[in-house]
Amino acid sequence: MCGIVGYVGNKSVMDILVDGLEQLEYRGYDSSGVAVMCEDEIKVYKAIGKLNNLREELLKHKGEYEKSTMGIGHIRWATHGAPTVLNAHPHTCTCGNLVIVHNGIIENYKELREQLSKEGCVFRSQTDTEVVAHLVAKMYAKTKDLPKAVREATKQIDGAYALCVMHNDCKNTLVLTKRNAPLLVGIGENEFFAASDVPAIIKHTKKAMYLNDNQVVVLTPEKMILTDIEGNEISPKIELLPWEPVALSKMGYKHYMLKEIHEQPDVIRNILVGKLHAPDENIILNEVKLTKETLKNLNRIQIIACGTSLHAAMIGKYIIESFCGIAVDVEASSEYIYRKTVTDKHTLVIGVSQSGETADTLTAIKQAKAKGSHILIITNRPDSAMAREADSLVPVNAGIEVSVAATKSYTAQLMAFYLLGLYMAEIKESVPVAELNSYKAEMMLLPQKIEQILAHTEDIQKCARVYSSTKDFIFVARGINFPTALEGALKLKEISYINATGYPAGELKHGPIAMLDETMPVLSILMKGCVYEKLLSNSEEAKARNARMIALTNSKSEKLEDLFDNIIRVPEVQELFSPLVAIVPLQLLAYYIAEFLGKDVDQPRNLAKSVTVE
Ligand code: F6R
Repeated sequence: MCGIVGYVGNKSVMDILVDGLEQLEYRGYDSSGVAVMCEDEIKVYKAIGKLNNLREELLKHKGEYEKSTMGIGHIRWATHGAPTVLNAHPHTCTCGNLVIVHNGIIENYKELREQLSKEGCVFRSQTDTEVVAHLVAKMYAKTKDLPKAVREATKQIDGAYALCVMHNDCKNTLVLTKRNAPLLVGIGENEFFAASDVPAIIKHTKKAMYLNDNQVVVLTPEKMILTDIEGNEISPKIELLPWEPVALSKMGYKHYMLKEIHEQPDVIRNILVGKLHAPDENIILNEVKLTKETLKNLNRIQIIACGTSLHAAMIGKYIIESFCGIAVDVEASSEYIYRKTVTDKHTLVIGVSQSGETADTLTAIKQAKAKGSHILIITNRPDSAMAREADSLVPVNAGIEVSVAATKSYTAQLMAFYLLGLYMAEIKESVPVAELNSYKAEMMLLPQKIEQILAHTEDIQKCARVYSSTKDFIFVARGINFPTALEGALKLKEISYINATGYPAGELKHGPIAMLDETMPVLSILMKGCVYEKLLSNSEEAKARNARMIALTNSKSEKLEDLFDNIIRVPEVQELFSPLVAIVPLQLLAYYIAEFLGKDVDQPRNLAKSVTVE
């Protein structure tokens, strides 16, 4: 949520900043801005809307910044104050000598703003960020030492922040700090990069250092000095970033979302590599540190997540309960953190997050950790804040996901749950070996089944054309695919803005059925298994109210043609694994409808990829 990029070195800075912001555009895109050190002073350029507007603005001033080799940039997802030029970052102090960009939220900004206004600071924006510019400038006026000013200012701030600071007096210096928001330094030859996420810098370097909370780093072209909040020097821990620049290309697809949907068979293969070799061999999950003893003493599992990851978590409940017979509760992290949660050392707490940075989930797992629970994290970002909190880690290896709508990371999270469930079942001996082996054999066939779906999308495209003009859409399912209905609805609403809802089909008659008439599409996720017949009856109830009926099914029955107006067929699969084949057509349906409606598929309105504010 929001993106930061910075550079100090010997190259022309503007291309590096704007290109870096483009790579972060998926994190927020309602306004953007850069500040660069020019010969005589820092110059700031901003624009509202997409990054192209900033590019156009910059073209008008080309002569001013061409030689500049240091600067900071920001792409915003508005929290405090509307997306206007004045609210766009970078923000400056009253005299304009100090410039900052910020990700996160300053919780005590009102008190600080009141105090600083009384002291004569002139505020120009409605943002929480601007108080930091004035506060650091105030400290700088006292100390004439920029890193010290940053350290002293952050001691007065409550909340979350990643900050990048420049000052007219310090022609070659960037100062960075963070608390509860990600920030890293990329290391080149006589140059350093700052970024809130890897994509902004991966083109330039794979060598990087992640800042820890309350650390301050000073970057000049020649060196990097890392200190704690008191100014004590710390030796930096430099690591190699696990990403390849090629992951950030659309590889010929029109949108990242379509590319990422098509990557799913390989994502499944990748996650199985090294973890499942053959149906009759044990699952290998070395990163899971749960001993036989701990597992036996577990009486409960809590899974916490948000959005799409929450839907994966809901399916995780079915998987773990079926395989291991341990009671599982699933909860939205944003709810978990504001009630008296009962958790202890006999509870395993699983956090699920694509980004590993979602503020609500991060707070929730920290709370559970403080109560003594073992924390297991399922994430696509083993380099994230959540991964660093983990006692056990299951990396999902989906590769970087650029489209705001999560697709391949969801599939990968489901795979992580299947692996984890089977792994725990093997340790607990809770499922007969022959049955376990049949599950493992099925898992190994999943990539081919998904490939079959991706190779024949005609029926899905036809449905997309037929239903693209609808205002509402209902997805129904039962059992393990109820969360699939929720996820199908979420995908559709977030990228097409059609009001879509998912229901457990048995609940239709308890209220939602009142909404059905000849204008309402109802999509039934009819996967063969214990709830198939029940769901068929629920679909009949909807048909009797004249709803427009669509089936997503792995049944070959021709009888379905009497009940449904449109049928999307998928390959047969054991019921427990059906969420993996059911979700792919729903992702595609959402994609084709949004594309048909001309929506901005990869960057839907009001959203951002990584939600780092609570
Ligand atoms: C929807 C979507 C969001 C995220 C949610 C959690 O397509 O992407 O609902 O799933 O913001 O994000 P992570 O998984 O990064 O914690």
